[in-house]
Amino acid sequence: MGKSRITNTPNVPTWRIVKDTAAMLRSPVHVFEQYRKEFGPIYTLRFGVRRTMVVSDPDMLRYVLKENNDNYTKSHIQVKRFVEFQGIGLTNSHGDYWLRQRKLLSMGFTRSRLSEILPIQLGVLEKFMADFHEETTHGPMDIHRQMVLFTLMSVGKSLFGEPMTKTELNQFADAIATIQAYLVKKVVQPYLFPYFFLTGQNRKHHKIREEGDQIIIDYIESRRKSGEKGADILQLILDTPYKDTGELMSDETVKVEILQLLVAGNETSTTAATWTLYQLARHPEHLEKIREEIESVCGDKPIDYGVLHSLNYLIRVLDESMRTYPPFWMIDREAIDDDRFGDINIPSGTTVIPYIYGAHHNEAYWPNPDEFNPDRFLDKHHPFSFIPFGGGPRVCIGQNMALMQILLVISTIVRDYDFELVDNKEVGIKSMMLLKPDGPMMMKVSKRVPRN
Ligand code: HEM
Repeated sequence: MGKSRITNTPNVPTWRIVKDTAAMLRSPVHVFEQYRKEFGPIYTLRFGVRRTMVVSDPDMLRYVLKENNDNYTKSHIQVKRFVEFQGIGLTNSHGDYWLRQRKLLSMGFTRSRLSEILPIQLGVLEKFMADFHEETTHGPMDIHRQMVLFTLMSVGKSLFGEPMTKTELNQFADAIATIQAYLVKKVVQPYLFPYFFLTGQNRKHHKIREEGDQIIIDYIESRRKSGEKGADILQLILDTPYKDTGELMSDETVKVEILQLLVAGNETSTTAATWTLYQLARHPEHLEKIREEIESVCGDKPIDYGVLHSLNYLIRVLDESMRTYPPFWMIDREAIDDDRFGDINIPSGTTVIPYIYGAHHNEAYWPNPDEFNPDRFLDKHHPFSFIPFGGGPRVCIGQNMALMQILLVISTIVRDYDFELVDNKEVGIKSMMLLKPDGPMMMKVSKRVPRN
């Protein structure tokens, strides 16, 4: 770690951090917001020996994530802790290995590839909506759980072609949530490592991971054995050689990448779709506008890929939902060499937190940041003041797929159903790795009566 000091940024005193430890464990984003309001858009704090800089200033975010991104790797936490459960793949590798994987996997997410998988996605949607409709007949439902099932079906089908079975979907959803909660515990309470080992928690979570892995291995093996070709991302990965050596990816690497895509693409899209439905339930005045837009763009025809991009009002609603509730509320980086941004000195080893929630609520760029106002996206904004998908070379590889899935499911639900929060109850946030609802999000959902 560099010996020089961070200069010219306000520092949160250590006594404050000690005092706020319990609040930090409950919901770090509330504490980070409190500090941002007191100390400004760039401040520092210490977690143990680690110097940490929390950034919600868009110019500095652009510098760290894009202009000088070579100097900022993913943090040791992501690399060390996540590798244990996810192996080394696109999301947690660096340098030449990362670039090689990124180039190959990007081919699965091009616009033409997405338009090819749209019919598959529409099939998933139809199946999901049938189950969803059935659920509406049993009284209020947890809309978050519904979105978990939809995105797993949808990501699963894009990756494997086969729809995952209901049992696999539930097993995967629970495995991902359980392991992520455990990883967060390990990061926030590193002193409990011996306890985790002695009580068998580590072993237990590895077993859950192995069971999830096995589902993916079975898919790979059955595809290889059958010799059938699917129009999915698994097929693309199995068939596409690396440009430099002409070799194919090994089965182990395919497994890791598919697992990472499932994890990266599942809860994020779930969270974005859930909060969008929540914002619409809280602000029903936007529903009619969306319905009018869908009617004028599609009539009563099904929604296709070209049409999705014309649903401008719905896109603004989604953007505003991801601004107010960004699925990733923060990401993290570590400075390799000493660096400077303006007059701020950033010694090597500093953890830099691109604080996405803070950037999205930075009053200098978003007046009245807590107000839900989709039309604010009619005005131009600083590109790094709105970064739900990150920025620079490591920007989310799956963002177009995510937008497609979310727009499809939201437009279909809004077009065909009325929905409201039970007792109009406000739902709090739980900010661990992602910004999730802090409990079930119960809604009453009913089929709309078509207008003549
Ligand atoms: C609304 C949904 C989504 C959100 C908000 C989201 C957000 C993000 C963010 C913020 C990053 C950057 C992380 C960093 O720089 O540290 C990222 C990276 C990534 N995302 Fe997404 N994501 C979404 C959906 C998806 C989907 C559907 C997939 C794939 C199926 C996906 C796959 C990935 C991968 C593989 C990376 C790592 C890219 C790299 O390091 O080169 N994401 N995502």
